[in-house]
Amino acid sequence: MMKHMSPPLADLNLPKGVHRFRRLPDEQLGALWDSIILEESLKAQLLSQAMLNFTLRGKVDRSVIPLHGVILLVGPAGTGKTSLARGLAHRTAKAFKGGAFRLLEVDPHSLTSSAMGKTQKAVSELFSQSIAESAASGPTIVLLDEVETLAADRSKMSLEANPVDIHRATDAVLVQLDALAESHPNLLFVATSNFPQAVDSAFTSRCDLVMQIPLPDREACALILKDCLTGLGKTFAAIGKLPASAQFERCAAECVGLDGRAIRKMVANALASSPQTAMNPEQVTIEDLLAGALAAKANRNHGGKGK
Ligand SMILES: Nc1ncnc2c1ncn2[C@@H]1O[C@H](COP(=O)(O)OP(=O)(O)OP(=O)(O)O)[C@@H](O)[C@H]1O
Ligand SMILES: [Mg+2]
Repeated sequence: MMKHMSPPLADLNLPKGVHRFRRLPDEQLGALWDSIILEESLKAQLLSQAMLNFTLRGKVDRSVIPLHGVILLVGPAGTGKTSLARGLAHRTAKAFKGGAFRLLEVDPHSLTSSAMGKTQKAVSELFSQSIAESAASGPTIVLLDEVETLAADRSKMSLEANPVDIHRATDAVLVQLDALAESHPNLLFVATSNFPQAVDSAFTSRCDLVMQIPLPDREACALILKDCLTGLGKTFAAIGKLPASAQFERCAAECVGLDGRAIRKMVANALASSPQTAMNPEQVTIEDLLAGALAAKANRNHGGKGK
């Protein structure tokens, strides 16, 4: 008889609201950190703030420096915030050798419920039990992706959903953050949002660092495009040579205004510019990429973002 396969240990008993648990450091996350093209000074600032969280808190009284252990990354969709947050967790853990760090990834959508009072209860339990337990047994980094879902701006509640409940969920997040800040100095929240106007100002005010992640400038666009083409070049050698072509810089310039995700997707669209190219991606030309970039930009402008 075949033995029944059990699920991987890490997936067992994940508390409600936590959709992934990882031990750190994790080199896969290190690759994410490296893959995001961002001014080195911003990356260094981010990493330093995260490191300071674990060197200072616990040793210096909160009446001197009231750190909450929260970093917020805000910026347009597709600019690498989630990737940076995961990568940051890895790099921070790596800086403290043998620190036994772990990363909890929270899925805020799984906590929200239309039933009265349920969201608030789920939020309170997640923070006061699951997260507190993890922090009690070792340094813990918590990814709060799309935090506007949990810490919604109470001053802008729409009446459509269940405003009282969302109001209470935001209150619960703030109460829990304050409590954890007092009791667990070896805890760091890294939150992301591409909709900062929707994040409650009391949450933002508790953040130790709010960093704006910008759209890539021309130089960054060229690096992202090159990285993408070089990566494809490992499988399709001819594509790896495109960054050396005369039109490459123009193509990169046409990407300005697109986010990093859109640039990589644009390359995929160029590979699908005809059934022949799709069947044999090595046939893609720099003209296909140029057309792809122009089309992606036109689409974006059409989408109401303006020029
Ligand atoms: N600055 C960048 N450099 C290189 N690649 C990037 C950059 N920004 C985004 N990307 C690419 O876009 C993909 C999406 O990134 P990610 O999911 O981290 O963005 P995000 O800001 O969290 O987006 P969202 O706001 O929609 O959640 C990444 O896998 C990465 O390949
Ligand atoms: Mg994201």
